[in-house]
Amino acid sequence: MKRTVTCGALRKADEHKTVALNGWVHRKRDHGGISFISLRDRYGITQVVVDADAPAELAETAASLKMEYCVAAEGTVRRRPAAMVNPDMPTGEIEVAASKLAVLSKSETLPFMLDEVNKDGSPVVPGEDLRLKYRYLDLRTARMQHHLALRHTVALAARNFLSDNGFYEIETPTFIKSTPEGARDYLVPSRLYPGKFYALPQSPQLYKQLLMVSGFDRYFQIARCYRDEDARGDRQPEFTQIDMEMSFVSRDDVLDVTERMMQAVFKKALGSDLAAPFARIPYDDALDRFGTDKPDLRFEIELQNADFLGKDSGFRPFKEAYDAGGGIKALAVPGAAGAYSRKKIEELEETAKIYKAKGFAWIKVCGTENAPSLEGGIAKFFGGSADGSASDSPEAAAAARKICAAFGAAPGDLLLFASDAQKKAACTALGAVRGKLGKDLNLIDTEAFAFAWIIDFPLFEWNDDLHKWDAAHHLFSMPQERYIPTLEHDPGAVKGDLYDLVLNGCELASGSIRVHDPALQKRLFGIAGITEEDSERKFGFLTNAFKYGAPPHGGIAPGLDRLAMLMCRETSIKDVIAFPKNTFAVSPIDGCPSEADAAQLRELHLAFGG
Ligand code: AMO
Repeated sequence: MKRTVTCGALRKADEHKTVALNGWVHRKRDHGGISFISLRDRYGITQVVVDADAPAELAETAASLKMEYCVAAEGTVRRRPAAMVNPDMPTGEIEVAASKLAVLSKSETLPFMLDEVNKDGSPVVPGEDLRLKYRYLDLRTARMQHHLALRHTVALAARNFLSDNGFYEIETPTFIKSTPEGARDYLVPSRLYPGKFYALPQSPQLYKQLLMVSGFDRYFQIARCYRDEDARGDRQPEFTQIDMEMSFVSRDDVLDVTERMMQAVFKKALGSDLAAPFARIPYDDALDRFGTDKPDLRFEIELQNADFLGKDSGFRPFKEAYDAGGGIKALAVPGAAGAYSRKKIEELEETAKIYKAKGFAWIKVCGTENAPSLEGGIAKFFGGSADGSASDSPEAAAAARKICAAFGAAPGDLLLFASDAQKKAACTALGAVRGKLGKDLNLIDTEAFAFAWIIDFPLFEWNDDLHKWDAAHHLFSMPQERYIPTLEHDPGAVKGDLYDLVLNGCELASGSIRVHDPALQKRLFGIAGITEEDSERKFGFLTNAFKYGAPPHGGIAPGLDRLAMLMCRETSIKDVIAFPKNTFAVSPIDGCPSEADAAQLRELHLAFGG
């Protein structure tokens, strides 16, 4: 019974047709001698009916069917009786009256039900270990079928867009010398050269730059990358980038082509029109306004400057931060005073503490519009009271009015603060609190796709452990022109032509305009403490290439997994990867990493233990 139609294809207009379907038994019900079989394939579900007067053999086969048996069914399309029409299913107006049924393959009892729903309609999601161990079954669920289909569409739309815009898809090697992306490399031992290793690429970075030297002025690759770093919701040890590089471009050219690619991808995969250009936020502003370089712009509240509170403050942490030239940041959360008990505020404080800011504090704005008062937390330092017995003195009211005016706050609002001798610490701590508030108070518009570019990143970061300057992104990013004469003078102040694309609070892509001048490159290596010998050994193959007429160039790499995850409105990239590793970098389906046998190890000149 070779299939003539898929399980998603039949409609009213197909009535009376004889068809053959192949698929899996999704559900089966027996009712008054009639068997109703929901037959499923990746295109949909069709109801196959074995009537009460069916021949014995057919009825017997129907009776033997169990969940997830793979079967073939032949029969005639007929309309469902009016009461049986299912408007929620594309095939819900018809059914196939079976004349033949064959079991193509049986299934053992399933380790978990597929597409099971709770009474309230929410999906029953089995534990992750079980899902990943039986991933081939998990992938049969409607959710995973949808996600992998969408991922396919996203990758295809990106590929088509880039090809249509003059980019060549060129594969770069996956056995390479290690690329400096900041994570650990996965190494592959060489059989032919004892003690030597290939590295799996953390990204095709250096090779794509070589391709620019070769004159392929628009390159892309849907590239598999490998990084030995701790797994998180948006990280996997192996993942995919839509890696791009262009010659003779400025930053804005790269941003523009990326925006147009995102528009094409969203249109194709979701049918939605993205407004462009996306917001462009300098790194310093992002930190100041949102406390992070990955701001979630789906909700509006922003951090505010509260340094003025530190000047003569009786509240020590504020005063100390002020005197040290650090920062005091405030968040005015509209209408949240009532919703936040002391206990809930403590939870916010816990969040702030993770980010190590010294002073976390709060005040509730009470009273009325005309006579606001400050209560709780550190109110007493600003004319209010800690215990709710707010003073009604004119001075207290004036102080409250001043604070309300400064932060645009009104009675009913909750004011939160973080302070630290390092302004960045105050910002990041309160930024994390902002993120938690967004979730706790349902401030996030979950339908929205809020893109933003973060630009003007610092080129260097101070490494406190090693007491040296490190590249903030990688060492091949261009300093902005005005800093070039004085790079060495104050590396921390140097802004680079670096950019990140952020979507809904997640870093979706990173890129930069690259250095193509060997002399400038040498200076940057010098600042990062990389000796000439070291740079020659590590990056000589790139820097030497730059001696032969390297074009100015730049690029970017959006993460395909993260993009698909956000478009599927998931929070883990595992949900858009067919066979991901678990949180411990283990592949539950085949149990890797696994031991190699002794002979293999001998051949690779490797020995362990003892
Ligand atoms: P970067 O290291 O920022 O830049 O990576 C670019 C994008 O790749 C994705 N990504 C990841 N996705 C899943 N799991 C991971 N472990 C992971 N690590 C990164 C993110 C990230 O924004 N060569 C540069 C790009 C360039 O400059 O052109 C690079 O790799 O979406």
